[in-house]
Amino acid sequence: MERIEVASERGAYRVLVGEQILPELPHLLEEARAGRGWPVVTDATVGPLWGATAAARLGSDPPLELPAGEPAKRWPQVERICRWLLRRGAGRGAFLVGVGGGVVTDMTGFAAAIFLRGISWAAVPTTLLAMVDASVGGKTGINLDEGKNLIGAFWPPSLVVADVDTLSTLPLRELRAGLAEAIKTAWIGDRSLLELIPDAVRGYSKGRAERWIALVAGSVRVKARVVREDEREAGARQALNLGHTVAHALEAATGYERFLHGEAVAWGLRAAVRLARSRGVLSAGAGRRLLDAVACLEPLPPVHDLDAGTVLAHLAVDKKRDAGGIAWVLPTDEGVVLRQRIEPAEILEVLGDLQRHG
Ligand code: NAD
Ligand code: GLY
Repeated sequence: MERIEVASERGAYRVLVGEQILPELPHLLEEARAGRGWPVVTDATVGPLWGATAAARLGSDPPLELPAGEPAKRWPQVERICRWLLRRGAGRGAFLVGVGGGVVTDMTGFAAAIFLRGISWAAVPTTLLAMVDASVGGKTGINLDEGKNLIGAFWPPSLVVADVDTLSTLPLRELRAGLAEAIKTAWIGDRSLLELIPDAVRGYSKGRAERWIALVAGSVRVKARVVREDEREAGARQALNLGHTVAHALEAATGYERFLHGEAVAWGLRAAVRLARSRGVLSAGAGRRLLDAVACLEPLPPVHDLDAGTVLAHLAVDKKRDAGGIAWVLPTDEGVVLRQRIEPAEILEVLGDLQRHG
C-alpha cells in the first residue's frame, strides 16, 4: 500500500492507495483517529457494488444512496445528506464517509463542510478520476444552473482510501475519461507516468493492479506537491486547470450530455497544445508527446459539428475569468505556464483547426 501525505491548513491527511484495502477500512479509519459511527454516503450505482459492503464492514447503517451522476450534484442532495445526519442523531463529532466517484466525494465533502458548521470526513474514491484528482486537495462543492462547482468550500478530508480494485467494475469509458486527468497531472509533474497510459486504456485488470497503484499514487504525489504549495489556488494550483478552459466550454456548449468531463479535458489538452505551439512556448517534440498520450484515449466524442461561436461564448463565462479576461494555462516543455491572455480570434482559429483535424 502506498501512503502519500497531503499538507493542508486544516492539518495534514493521508491518501492510501492499494489493492483490496477496502476490507481494512475500519482499521484505517481508527488509525486516522476518525471518530466512530461513520455514516456512509454513496450513489445508487456504487451502493450495491461497494458502498453497502463498506458500510456493513464499518458496522454502520445502510448507506445513504444519492442518485448517480453529475445532474444530482445539486443543493437538494446536500440538504438531504444533512437532514439524514440529523435524523441519525449526528453531532459535531460525526465522521462522514463518501464512497463513490467525484460527484459523491465533492458532495459528501461539501455536506461535511457545512453540517453543524463543519464535521470531519473521509473519501473513498471509486472512479479513476476521483482517485487521481477529485478526492485529493480539499475542493468540495455543487453545481448551479449557471455553471459547475460555483458553490463550495475548501474542506479537506481526514483520510482518502483509494482501492484500485473498485476500478474493476468501472465502465471502460469512465476509466478512460479518468486517464485524461492522469495525463494532465503527468504533464505537470511526472512525465514517467505517461508510459503507463497505452496499457491502461485497455482497461483494469487485477493482474496489473501494481501498474494502477503506480499510476494513481504517482498522480496523487504530483497533486499533493501542487496543493502543498498553493492549497487555495492563488497561483501554482492553477496548473491543474491545464486543458480545463476549453473542456468546460465544450461541456457547457453540449448541455453536459455529450462528453464525460475527462473526455472534454482530452480535447482541452489538444487545444492547449495548439495554443502553446502558436505562442512558441512548447517545442514540436514535446507537443507531439502530449498529443500521442491523448490519442490513446480515442475514440472521443466528436467536436467537428459544434458551433465554434457557441463554444467561444461559453469560454467567456469561465469561472477563471477576471477583469483582464481568462487566465489560460498552457503546456511547456518543462511543465506549464500560467496566466496567459489569449485573444478571441486566436481561440477561434484553434477551435476551427481542432474541428477540422482533431
Ligand atoms: P461520477 O462521480 O459521476 O462517477 C461516474 C459514474 O461512474 C457514475 O455514474 C457513478 O455512479 C459510476 N461509478 C463510480 N464508481 C464506480 C465503480 N467503481 N463501478 C461502477 N460504476 C461506478 O464522476 P467522476 O468522473 O468520478 O467525477 C466527476 C466529478 O468530480 C465532477 O463533478 C467534477 O466537478 C468533480 N471533480 C472534482 C475535483 C476536485 O478537486 N474536488 C477535481 C476533479 C473533478
Ligand atoms: N481539479 C483541480 C484542482 O483540484 O485544483
